[in-house]
Amino acid sequence: MKIGILTGGGDCPGMNAFLRAVTRSAFAYVDDVEVWGVLDGWRGLIDRSYRRLAALDTAGISTLGGTILGTIRVPELRENDDLRQLVHRNLLSDGFDALFVCGGNGSLHASHDLDRRLRDSGREGMIYFTAASIDNDVANAYTTSLGFYSAINRSVEMMNWIRDTASAHRRVYVINSMGRRSAWLPFYAGLSSGVEYVIRPNEKVDFEAIADMIEKRDRDTRIIVSEAYPKSLEEIKAILDDALERRSSRHDIRTVDMGYFQRGGEAAVTDVLRANWLGFKMVRALAGNIPGGFFGAFSIAAEPTRLTFDEAIAPEANHDDIPREMIEMAIALR
Ligand code: F6P
Repeated sequence: MKIGILTGGGDCPGMNAFLRAVTRSAFAYVDDVEVWGVLDGWRGLIDRSYRRLAALDTAGISTLGGTILGTIRVPELRENDDLRQLVHRNLLSDGFDALFVCGGNGSLHASHDLDRRLRDSGREGMIYFTAASIDNDVANAYTTSLGFYSAINRSVEMMNWIRDTASAHRRVYVINSMGRRSAWLPFYAGLSSGVEYVIRPNEKVDFEAIADMIEKRDRDTRIIVSEAYPKSLEEIKAILDDALERRSSRHDIRTVDMGYFQRGGEAAVTDVLRANWLGFKMVRALAGNIPGGFFGAFSIAAEPTRLTFDEAIAPEANHDDIPREMIEMAIALR
């Protein structure tokens, strides 16, 4: 049997652990198996660019950030039917029997499309997908994306570093967080590091109340801004500068972008453990003739949820905003 493994979309810690777990589980459970890494994500299936993997090729990568297979974004894949057909054709003509994919929303949609095309050629169920994205916006009613907790760890480190200088200078820092349309990463990063405010993507922000808070604190203040919030850091700074000037406050505001730093570095153990578990369970599913689809789990040792791709992309499978009670908790603990 010939198995492909593809890491797609934005890289994140946990992808390498998943790749290692699938590779090693395949050698343990699948007869006469060949394992091939698809290079540079979906681009590899377009260019037919693969690398054969032995168990030893995956040594020492469990906690390594990024992906040793590479990932290049192919935004055209969403719209371009010829490219999608090409991916379908290459997968079959290059003799793959199963494809393991970890990635974000783009990869989920590409997998969904590919699975539909495979159904038409009688090969439905050969894609085994799990979510890997720092945004945690992939069917999050059923799983936590690999990479999410790692990105929170990275953000907490950065928030602690910025506090050192913010408190030394009694400054206000307005800090951008990745997370695309979703509030999860900025909110959890803020909650875990005890920042004073997190602006969620669709929030109606009361900047006067934030200015009051800054003035009362008379110390460092860190405000995390979600990537999808429509105002830029500079616009937020200008609004707050104005509000503070009206209060004759001496606070000095700086802006900083956590951005790509959030995606890098060592994988959190929770991500590594779940990557191991999901990779292992998904290969066991293949070996047990259980068809592919979306696989998710909130923790190691919990039986993974298996969904069809239609179920995984349904709007009710994903929540971009934070439950009200979590917001109340953040306010109470501030
Ligand atoms: O999906 C992960 C993510 O890091 C998002 O948070 C961010 O919006 C996007 O990818 C950035 O993508 P790129 O690496 O293509 O600039």
